Amino acid sequence: MTAVGIDGLEIWAGKLELDLPEVFAPAQGDDPGKYTKGLGLHASSFPDTYEDIVTMGANAALRLMRRKDVAPDEIGRIDVATESAFDKSKPVSTYVAGCLEQVLDGDFRHANKGERKFACISGTQALDDAYNWVRAGRHRGKRALVVATDTALYARDDAGEATQGAGAVAMLIGEDPDLVSFTQAQGFGSMDETDFLKPQQQFPSVDGQRSVQVYLARMREAVEDYESQAGDVHPEDFAYAPFHTPFPGMVRKAALLGFRHVSRDTEYEDRVAEEIGRQPRREEFDDLEGFRAALKDYTDALAETDVYQDWYARTVEPTLELSRYCGNWYTGSVHVARASGLLQAAEAGQDLTGERLLVGSYGSGAQAEIHHETIQPGWEENIRALNVKDQFRDRYDLTYEEYERIHDAHNHEKETDTDELATPDEEFVFDGWGRMGERKYRYV
Ligand code: HMG
Repeated sequence: MTAVGIDGLEIWAGKLELDLPEVFAPAQGDDPGKYTKGLGLHASSFPDTYEDIVTMGANAALRLMRRKDVAPDEIGRIDVATESAFDKSKPVSTYVAGCLEQVLDGDFRHANKGERKFACISGTQALDDAYNWVRAGRHRGKRALVVATDTALYARDDAGEATQGAGAVAMLIGEDPDLVSFTQAQGFGSMDETDFLKPQQQFPSVDGQRSVQVYLARMREAVEDYESQAGDVHPEDFAYAPFHTPFPGMVRKAALLGFRHVSRDTEYEDRVAEEIGRQPRREEFDDLEGFRAALKDYTDALAETDVYQDWYARTVEPTLELSRYCGNWYTGSVHVARASGLLQAAEAGQDLTGERLLVGSYGSGAQAEIHHETIQPGWEENIRALNVKDQFRDRYDLTYEEYERIHDAHNHEKETDTDELATPDEEFVFDGWGRMGERKYRYV
């Protein structure tokens, strides 16, 4: 069977940067350690006044199509995944296509365009749709363009303000991919939850502490569901485990529970047994409370073992590197984590061809999905072409007062007249409103 998967990806970060320990923490009266050590974040990326989900998505897609030398008529579908859409009818993908048609030869007249919504997991769902479309043979030899784009802003003084971010990931999906291929096995954990939502409002209502618990619970169910299809996961099965990263501290929590699960009844459990004993089993306890207390003690001790820490440093830590400097990108976040792991491997000169990734996606509301991907020949060239670290370095560094103005400028309920802080160069910019309330864009 021909492999189907991601043929290439590009990342576009918001042009502004907020330093969390140096600028945000002091203004909030917080210890910088809460950001760098607790949440695991150093900086957030922000959109300048001329940026939004369309400009960031179109800029990422343009770079990708030019690099992969793909013409508009070679694209059979465009799906945009976002939870920051500004129109209830006209999908963001039509705006993105309109932008690209301004500068590329040809058009997307015969491409099927849509928009996907399920909080942060919709980027992965759009990949799923593209995969199914190719597998069903309805693609006429064409590829799908998937764009995950968000301005992940919270209301001022919400606990989530620390985890903000803005950026886009564009991906091409097709046959014989150059980056990773997908497989059929996948697992879901899905429940009607009220942890994070935006009922007709721009900024989310969030029950932050509960959202953390829901993430862990749905992710565990998704892993078990995946294992029922693909067989038990072993800690050495995967080169990396890129997971949805609202902030790296969240993945640190998930990774520990995940490792405890996948190391059970393996040589990994044996290796730590001398130091911390074996994992408590439910049947060894008369009451649930006693079992839970023993499990918590075991888990706390597991986190301190060299065996766990080595595994974490190899398999998870590299996937968090980019996120530490850009914050949560909602739909793009897990795709940034995949790119981050591969980028670290390319920089370290590792050969990953044929190895696997265990990918964990999550969206509040709530649903988790687990699948694995196989790294393809060509991955290294593809990943080395990313200039995301240069983008991060070149961002305009915000003062706290500028941050407040920029946040207001993106707040739909505030009327502001704020000047841009960065200078757009060879990119799409927001260019005001048209007569029917549509947003207009131009290439600078
Ligand atoms: P908070 O309550 O302000 O922070 O917000 P905290 O007090 O819990 O501190 C955070 C961590 O820093 C804690 O670590 C502290 O101990 C530690 P933990 O105990 O949890 O391991 N800490 C320090 N460490 C070292 N030195 C210090 C220090 N001070 C504190 N000095 C919260 C945290 C996550 C609630 C908040 O950021 C929030 O509401 N975020 C938004 C919601 C969110 O991101 N949830 C994650 C799961 S849901 C999800 O991923 C979906 C989402 O992406 C949306 C979607 O799907 O669309 C959000």
